[in-house]
Amino acid sequence: MSLRIEAARAEHLPALAALRAAFWKDQNEKGLREPAPGCALEDLAKLLGRARTHLLVALLDGEPVGYLLGQTKVIPGVVVQKASSVEEVMTLPVFRREGAARRLVEAALGRFRDDGADRVQLRVLVENDEAHAFWRRMGFEPYLTTLERKLPP
Ligand SMILES: CC(C)(COP(=O)(O)OP(=O)(O)OC[C@H]1O[C@@H](n2cnc3c(N)ncnc32)[C@H](O)[C@@H]1OP(=O)(O)O)[C@@H](O)C(=O)NCCC(=O)NCCS
Repeated sequence: MSLRIEAARAEHLPALAALRAAFWKDQNEKGLREPAPGCALEDLAKLLGRARTHLLVALLDGEPVGYLLGQTKVIPGVVVQKASSVEEVMTLPVFRREGAARRLVEAALGRFRDDGADRVQLRVLVENDEAHAFWRRMGFEPYLTTLERKLPP
């Protein structure tokens, strides 16, 4: 079995659309209150070739088993900064703990450095235990907490 990480191409989009839909379903089931973005083929197609946007696919014997969507933002200010973020990362449940997400993140970090960023952030749901364990292992630490409450109707 050979695992490769590549920039997504048009031929990967049908599998990536299914993976993306599964990612957002999983996050919503874990408590995310935001609606999923478009998970259709054309929504993903728009991401290909977008500046500082990295849609990476993990291919096991040529078959997509995971993906990562990351981007680098330019933050204006007295000193212009570039900060990257991992927006989505998911591996198929049957291929977990095989190092695919690690390889996706390592590949993304290289691309973020090439973008000129010097830090990378991401959001994790408080109750997403597997993701907390994964990100800790990848060297990420809690930095900023988002607080939220519901408003009365
Ligand atoms: C989080 C997720 C991407 C990890 O994918 P994965 O392919 O299983 O991760 P890897 O195999 O590369 O794991 C690398 C290391 O992270 C840690 N890790 C990963 N999953 C873990 C878990 N469920 N429990 C404890 N540690 C875990 C381990 O140290 C692991 O190394 P090891 O297997 O040698 O012990 C995967 O569980 C997933 O897709 N979850 C659903 C989507 C999601 O929540 N994404 C994150 C949103 S912030």
